[in-house]
Amino acid sequence: MGTDETGMERTPVTVMGLGLMGRALAGAFAAAGHPTTVWNRTPGKAAPLIASGVREAGTVEDAVGAGSLLIVCVRDYDAVQEILAPVSGALSGKVLVNLTSGASDEARALAGWAAEHGAGYLDGAIMMTPPGIGAPDTAILYGGSPELFAEHEQTLRVLGGATTHLSSDAGIPSLYDVALLGIMWGTFNSFMHSVALVGTENIAATDFLPFATDWLGGVASFMATYAQQIDKGEYVAGDATLETQVPPVGHLVHESRIRGIDAAIPEYTKALIEEAIARGHALDSYARIVEHFRPAV
Ligand SMILES: NC(=O)c1ccc[n+]([C@@H]2O[C@H](COP(=O)([O-])OP(=O)(O)OC[C@H]3O[C@@H](n4cnc5c(N)ncnc54)[C@H](OP(=O)(O)O)[C@@H]3O)[C@@H](O)[C@H]2O)c1
Repeated sequence: MGTDETGMERTPVTVMGLGLMGRALAGAFAAAGHPTTVWNRTPGKAAPLIASGVREAGTVEDAVGAGSLLIVCVRDYDAVQEILAPVSGALSGKVLVNLTSGASDEARALAGWAAEHGAGYLDGAIMMTPPGIGAPDTAILYGGSPELFAEHEQTLRVLGGATTHLSSDAGIPSLYDVALLGIMWGTFNSFMHSVALVGTENIAATDFLPFATDWLGGVASFMATYAQQIDKGEYVAGDATLETQVPPVGHLVHESRIRGIDAAIPEYTKALIEEAIARGHALDSYARIVEHFRPAV
């Protein structure tokens, strides 16, 4: 154990992977007073960290031996396996915290593999970019043993104040991660479409932005209503029926086409609404659309 400036004991951590994210993670641990060892496949990336007291391990064996908490943050789960499989015999008694992005099946498989080798396992999804690591509102979502999380929560909270344990199932954070990223890309694409649309009248993206962000606040409040409806399976249109939304989405398709803008996004939305109406749900709220995305039973 090391100590910080207040004399508190700090768990020794190892960070494997010094990409943009790994460097931010290692920097945050070091700044919080944790004895921090790093390893990266390509040497030389630790240079900026060494000045803040971080030690660079020459080998994976050395890196694994140095920390009781082993943080891995590399390109994908295949890379995690490439790094750890050759040192699997040294993992017993260690706690592996995998912050590499992946899918839920990959996280579950890695959790099982770690257990076979006697290592504790937590899987984390970082919902932030590297500059936000260490900030009080940075969300990192964890899955795996609740006891293990509780034991290391204080250390893990160094990386983000909004650190949350979601489930004993190590696959759940990856599921949240991809689901949240889907919202991000969907929103980005709609924003790009809208900016291109208003841009045909030389309206700057920055002039349009405040209207877009205010509107997102309203959209979030509609989502809160729809989430309750979805959980109840009752799609009573207290705001607007699906039928009411056919003309406006048609206007967006038309406006896009006459301005030479790709209309694929509103065309898809229009098709979703029309499909639900064809199934007999014209008077329901937009939340009814969730049924389109559910697996067929
Ligand atoms: N950047 C973000 O905003 C962000 C946000 C949330 C989550 N994440 C996740 O964090 C992880 C790392 O992201 P990043 O931004 O740090 O990526 P990055 O800058 O591209 O770094 C990738 C890292 O993976 C290592 N790597 C790749 N293949 C490897 C292999 N076969 N064996 C060993 N090491 C290998 C690289 O080592 P070399 O230096 O040797 O190439 C490097 O350290 C990813 O899963 C990413 O999805 C990133």
